[in-house]
Amino acid sequence: MSLTNHYPLILEDVHKVYRIGEIIVPALQGVTLKVRKGEFLSIAGPSGSGKSTLLHIMGLLDRPSKGKVIIEGKEASLLKEREAARLRNEYLGFVFQAYNLINRMSALENVELPAIVKGVSREKRKRRAQELLSLVGLGDKTDRKPNQLSGGEQQRVAIARALMNEPSIILADEPTGNLDSKAGGEITKFFKKICEEYSQTIIVVTHNPEVAKATDRTIYLRDGLIVEERVNK
Ligand SMILES: Nc1ncnc2c1ncn2[C@@H]1O[C@H](COP(=O)(O)OP(=O)(O)O)[C@@H](O)[C@H]1O
Ligand SMILES: [Mg+2]
Repeated sequence: MSLTNHYPLILEDVHKVYRIGEIIVPALQGVTLKVRKGEFLSIAGPSGSGKSTLLHIMGLLDRPSKGKVIIEGKEASLLKEREAARLRNEYLGFVFQAYNLINRMSALENVELPAIVKGVSREKRKRRAQELLSLVGLGDKTDRKPNQLSGGEQQRVAIARALMNEPSIILADEPTGNLDSKAGGEITKFFKKICEEYSQTIIVVTHNPEVAKATDRTIYLRDGLIVEERVNK
């Protein structure tokens, strides 16, 4: 781990209230957090404690009801939706529990997608997609469609895709939730490797203590608040 005083992500007193008709759900009740460059951070806590809501707000997929989200020094709440979308595509990489790969495309084409959106030349993005698939141990399976890969392999394709645009931060919501413990352990190992070798900042939501233990720091949420913070040795 190579930590610096550079903070790619800062949250200041983030609140989120959902409204369902008359009912008000306070999903986040004032979360303040700084994430260092190269940090591998985990977010743990019981179901319904606000983990996914927090990750969505960090990823600019949702906006806080109150408070600030600052990504690479840019305050996201001040941005128009189009600017936020550009920030999301350039600075953030996402990995979800359900992989979210496109079934009619090969592994290589799936990894290329964020670079197509960004406008990277065909040759350049194919080369990088190939390199990233090799990095996650799938250099010989680049032509496979998702349904020709195991769950663990599909999640490694999703990680390669998340890395495509050299994001400032990777955000992962229960990335090992659909995998058996062996495949899940491998995914965690890959995250650790890219964190250590590339100073990649990674934030992972998990309720698996094994995954949390592998990260640099764990924050525990309860009822939309950070109730505990642990540095993992
Ligand atoms: N879109 C939504 N509309 C209303 N309530 C929601 C919505 N999303 C989440 N919630 C509520 O907000 C709280 C936090 O949810 P969530 O962030 O998904 O928790 P976790 O990921 O820790 O299980 C829960 O009470 C949940 O029911
Ligand atoms: Mg969740």
